[in-house]
Amino acid sequence: MRTQVAIIGGGPSALLLSQLLRLRGIDNVVLERKTRDYVLSRIRAGVLERGLLDLMREAGIAGRMEREGFAHDGTLIAHEGGMFHVDFRKLTGHSVMVYGQTEVTRDLYDALEKAGGKIEFEVEGVEIHDADTDAPHVTFHRGGTEHRIDCDYVAGCDGFHGVSRQTIPLSVRREYEKTYPFGWLGILSETPPVDDELIYANSARGFALCSMRNANLSRYYIQCALSDSPSDWTDAAFWQELKRRLPGEVAGRLVTGPSIEKSIAPLRSFVTEPMRWGRLFLCGDAAHIVPPTGAKGLNTAASDVHYLYNGLRQVYEEGDPEGIDRYSERALARVWKAERFSWWFSSLLHRYPDQSAFDLRMQAAEIDFLRTNEAAQKAMAENYVGLPY
Ligand code: APR
Ligand code: PHB
Repeated sequence: MRTQVAIIGGGPSALLLSQLLRLRGIDNVVLERKTRDYVLSRIRAGVLERGLLDLMREAGIAGRMEREGFAHDGTLIAHEGGMFHVDFRKLTGHSVMVYGQTEVTRDLYDALEKAGGKIEFEVEGVEIHDADTDAPHVTFHRGGTEHRIDCDYVAGCDGFHGVSRQTIPLSVRREYEKTYPFGWLGILSETPPVDDELIYANSARGFALCSMRNANLSRYYIQCALSDSPSDWTDAAFWQELKRRLPGEVAGRLVTGPSIEKSIAPLRSFVTEPMRWGRLFLCGDAAHIVPPTGAKGLNTAASDVHYLYNGLRQVYEEGDPEGIDRYSERALARVWKAERFSWWFSSLLHRYPDQSAFDLRMQAAEIDFLRTNEAAQKAMAENYVGLPY
């Protein structure tokens, strides 16, 4: 088989890139090691930045999001029993869209299938060959049969545990990592959200977040120990702890119910440089990870897709390699700003085991400065709604 762009992975990064390339007549094949249903079973965050909304419209997959998504003009931040609002719309002129990122992936799969896009599921042993030459190829096997795809370029969209990043020699790669001493215990419940907007809470007992998917599907998180497992937490224990971390007026109106999903996610900041090696381009979680506090995972993958898609379009349509030659530089410039915001927002809202009394005063002063200073709120809002591409 031959294609112009071989795309490793079948998550949102891969599918969005595939869809955009296909619309420009650039042939591509997606190689996913799991099944479609498995990929869609993953619970993901629910906030979409303005840049991703524009990309979804460009990709022709924004219809259901426009109908079913909820535009949020701001967010609430709770601390020591009080709560204040940060008005994104007033401060930046933009909103964010609350719409499950899993639904974005579902919309992308529907579009791929409708267009007859090429995807191979349940592939095994993907290997990327000769990425540092003008004739790369990819091999994989399935059901005992070996397959080879010759291509012009390879897009490594196979997430943090994929093969693409590992294909770049250690002598070339530089990796930067920070792990956080806690996790997020999250539940989904078929209950009405506790508020119309998200509530990020810094409490003496730890971080909590009140989010939602729709008018009768809520998503809640509490900071938990890395040693915890979901089975350590009954629903009743979760609801009790969540209420203790929220302002009284919020806890008093919280509607509880049985969890339909319960999981724990560790928090990590990670970046690999460069995001290009020869004709291999890393995109999304294959290249970087952020703590979920700012919901920047998919949104930062989207800016990678924007730069890579336009670079590939430029080289195929204009014969100009400028976009792909500057891909890593451009993508990383925005990646690092997303990493900074996610790290800052995590530092602002979580309680760290090694925090001194002085550290706690610094955190309280930072929150109070955000509460009282419009410039501080504007800086936060501009990062939250998404910096320009
Ligand atoms: N071969 C083929 N497919 C692979 C391989 C491999 N060796 N390794 C991983 N994959 C597949 C995974 O099964 C997964 O479906 O690659 C896909 C990677 O998808 P994600 O991990 O979702 O990464 P990405 O598409 O970059 O998503 C970015 O989306 O929802 C958010 O928070 C999420 O930050 C994440 C973001
Ligand atoms: C979610 O709804 O899952 C969500 C929302 C905002 C975040 C993280 C997760 O910052």
